[in-house]
Amino acid sequence: MNLSEKNMKNILVVYYSLTGNTKIIAEAIAESIDSEILELKPVKELKAESGSKYFWGGYQATMKIKPKLKPIEINPLDYDLIILGTPVWAWTYTPPIHSFLSKFDLTGKNMALWTCSQGDGIKAMNKLKKALKNANILGEIRFKEPKQHEPDKVKEKATKWVKKIILDFNAK
Ligand SMILES: Cc1cc2nc3c(=O)[nH]c(=O)nc-3n(C[C@H](O)[C@H](O)[C@H](O)COP(=O)(O)O)c2cc1C
Repeated sequence: MNLSEKNMKNILVVYYSLTGNTKIIAEAIAESIDSEILELKPVKELKAESGSKYFWGGYQATMKIKPKLKPIEINPLDYDLIILGTPVWAWTYTPPIHSFLSKFDLTGKNMALWTCSQGDGIKAMNKLKKALKNANILGEIRFKEPKQHEPDKVKEKATKWVKKIILDFNAK
């Protein structure tokens, strides 16, 4: 059964990823439910392979900087469910997600959230939920650097998580 063909039709996976962890989850989820996918890309990206990313990324996240994003060709508000994923930077969500949240009013929007982090990611998830307090959060999950920790198992966990959210929603 293609879950996205049930009641909850239009699903969008939105994510930012600098070093690929959040990306593999995003792609696994989108593929498993056959949804649209939107990668947020800042106009000026940090260098993923340079150690300076920790300084500049941490600075941007701490200062709540909202970098200019490359053009977004779709309207995220057209979707029934947005599944949003972010790496954790300096105990919070990433600056491109900050830009996304300030660009679109997600009040009342059905959303599911995931983070990728080195540590437990709890603080960042709480901050993300606080920023989205007017949205309808249907689920949340945190992953530890899936690229390094059995990516196939993590991808399976992610797809099970999202399919359950959709099933529960459609069952209501
Ligand atoms: C600038 C920067 C700051 C980070 N800060 C944290 C942090 O506060 N807590 C944490 O658990 N991981 C932190 N990390 C690790 C990332 O959250 C982790 O590697 C994540 O999986 C990266 O996702 P990505 O590969 O999709 O970019 C940081 C990484 C960077 C680049």
